[in-house]
Amino acid sequence: MASWKTIQKILEKLSEKGLCPEYTDPHFNLKLDWEKMPEGVDPSAGFLKGKRLRGKRWQLENIVQIAGSLLKGGETVVDFCSGSGHLSIPMAYMFPNCRFVLVERNPVPVEIGKKRIADAGLTNIEMCNSYIQDFQRDFDLGLALHACGEATDLAQIKCFEKNAAYIMCPCDLGFIQNSTLDCYPRSSAFSEVVTENEYKKLASAADWTCWDFDGELGKRGKLCMGYIDLDRNLAAEEAGYKTYLFTTNPREATPKNDIICGYRSELLISGDISVKPLNKLPATWGELKRHS
Ligand SMILES: C[S@@+](CC[C@H](N)C(=O)[O-])C[C@H]1O[C@@H](n2cnc3c(N)ncnc32)[C@H](O)[C@@H]1O
Repeated sequence: MASWKTIQKILEKLSEKGLCPEYTDPHFNLKLDWEKMPEGVDPSAGFLKGKRLRGKRWQLENIVQIAGSLLKGGETVVDFCSGSGHLSIPMAYMFPNCRFVLVERNPVPVEIGKKRIADAGLTNIEMCNSYIQDFQRDFDLGLALHACGEATDLAQIKCFEKNAAYIMCPCDLGFIQNSTLDCYPRSSAFSEVVTENEYKKLASAADWTCWDFDGELGKRGKLCMGYIDLDRNLAAEEAGYKTYLFTTNPREATPKNDIICGYRSELLISGDISVKPLNKLPATWGELKRHS
């Protein structure tokens, strides 16, 4: 494990070049009434309980709010590393005029997801048992909630290939150390300052995030995570995207609480989340009207 002194030297080099993560506050305030959701929709249908269930619901509310400011209806949304569909099954229910495709390599959650979709009676969503790398269809918005290590990068690169917007809440950034992908650092801005080896040390320190958010280790982890996610957003900016970096609200939704978002302004999806963060979605579940 790299020492904090080593990590600090890497961070100093980056900040000397003006590279420093900046978080936008999107005023996350969407609250969904999960108890009133149809069978199969709430993440409890995917066997989450207690603190993990509560955290997952918070993560979903934040991502739904961002997606609500981007989607107009008619878009295809791909959820990479979907698991059994914690994110996209509620979204398919809330955005009936959009089509959702869930990409998951493990057949076990895929089967659970198929049952949840059938239980919920949803017809605008399908499970696709595939690796991200093999997925070739066109889409407008790519999601990735807790896609581990390089999986977030693979999903984001897939979005670039398809000119799609992205909303991602990355996790297990330390796995990047073991990645065989030849793409780190992701952005030219970072590549000019740090070597791949230094970058991977930084990624490993990003995994110091923990439930002790105000402890020294947790704060250092969050800082390093912010740098890795800044690099991902800079790669997007270099590809012509407008980008945002957020922290979940509450931050206790998960120690891996960064959310990155980007879109090309000329696309079908062309919201401006900094200006109108909430305009497209009602603030409470009771106000939601289905149009299908
Ligand atoms: C931590 S889970 C997250 C599941 C879900 N998004 C959530 O937040 O609850 C990560 C999932 O990504 C899947 N995964 C990892 N790498 C993948 C890849 N290259 N292609 C498709 N799925 C992948 C794993 O099988 C696992 O189900």
